[in-house]
Amino acid sequence: MRADIITIFPRLVEAALSEGVVGRARTAGTVDIRVRDLREFTDDRHRTVDDVPFGGGPGMVMKAEPVYRALEAVRAERGNPDAVVLMTPQGRPFRQQDAERFSRMARLVLICGRYEGVDERVAETLVTDEVSIGDYVLTGGELPALVVIDAAVRLVPGVVGDAASVDDDSFTRGLLDHPQYTRPAEWRGRHVPDVLVSGHHREIERWRRHERVRRTRERRPDLLAGATLTADERNDMGAHDAREKEQEP
Ligand code: ADE
Repeated sequence: MRADIITIFPRLVEAALSEGVVGRARTAGTVDIRVRDLREFTDDRHRTVDDVPFGGGPGMVMKAEPVYRALEAVRAERGNPDAVVLMTPQGRPFRQQDAERFSRMARLVLICGRYEGVDERVAETLVTDEVSIGDYVLTGGELPALVVIDAAVRLVPGVVGDAASVDDDSFTRGLLDHPQYTRPAEWRGRHVPDVLVSGHHREIERWRRHERVRRTRERRPDLLAGATLTADERNDMGAHDAREKEQEP
């Protein structure tokens, strides 16, 4: 995967991409991620990337031309991108499936918006995907771009050593993860569930599966519609819902 991130805060983005799993994947050459400073694609003395909004109103709007030039430079050096993603709270919600789709791309470009937004003509003519990482407004698209890159890079084959850890992810199969424990088996008077130290692998798997369904039902019932459950698990859930109903005032 080749990815380019266009931003007015290249040091912020570069710092985050130099650490941990993503940093190692870059050093190893498994992924090739470059950070581009949007100001390098301006041609005035002040390196202006923003201007006042037509129609008035507060704040500043990111200009289209520097973004256009940055994309042209990326295209010339790296080839035609498979996707040009604009980070914006107006975008579609980012999901695990999007991370999977981006991770399979050979060339990806992410544009970090700032200020009150980016001139709409950028989205109209240059962008393939507008993506939001959640229903809250950040000061810019840098952290969202890092979220998207992180989620996609760890799915690139060879980046995460143990492929099973990626296959088992929350959301990959539509359920949250089960609880995890590590040593010591007793910590400040609290014990690890007996089953986990029993050595009975079938029982451990059963317990984990049960916990995943229980947690998802309690915390993210919206996910259950898309999850694959056994008939027993669906029935269990019906029983749970009935109990909840009985307790309603
Ligand atoms: N820019 C500001 N807030 C954002 C969000 N929630 N998602 C993507 N880009 C953003």
